Amino acid sequence: GAPVEVDISKLEPGMLLMVEWRGKVVWVLKRTQDMLENLEKLEVVLADPNSEKDQQPAYAKNRTRSIKPEILVVEGVCTHLGCSPVYRKDIAPADLGADWLGGFFCPCHGSKFDLAGRVYKGVPAPTNLVVPPHTYLSENQLLIG
Ligand code: FES
Repeated sequence: GAPVEVDISKLEPGMLLMVEWRGKVVWVLKRTQDMLENLEKLEVVLADPNSEKDQQPAYAKNRTRSIKPEILVVEGVCTHLGCSPVYRKDIAPADLGADWLGGFFCPCHGSKFDLAGRVYKGVPAPTNLVVPPHTYLSENQLLIG
């Protein structure tokens, strides 16, 4: 599959773009300041908060799992059996619980991932969502692949 170029100039904070790359959905999320701050509050409920199981390229092996702190680029494919999780930015909704500060919920078997694609403890998905190879050609031109 060829690399895919994505223009992120119109991406507003909190907005999720879906891109197709190699037959998979890749999400590009622009996180708000609140979302970035919330990432730090979740570590105790996450299975692999520091992403030590190698689900991202070296340049995304950091606290936000990204090159630019606000921009998350992650495969929209549940690491359990490959369903497509749903973007839910609501805080502590009744169906997801008080430790939900926004993230991706997989309706197939209930796996939960935060807004860095990190998996919660005690769900079927074994690992964090995968960060695909990507780079920036300029300020607003992202290249996936
Ligand atoms: Fe997502 Fe099973 S495929 S929880």
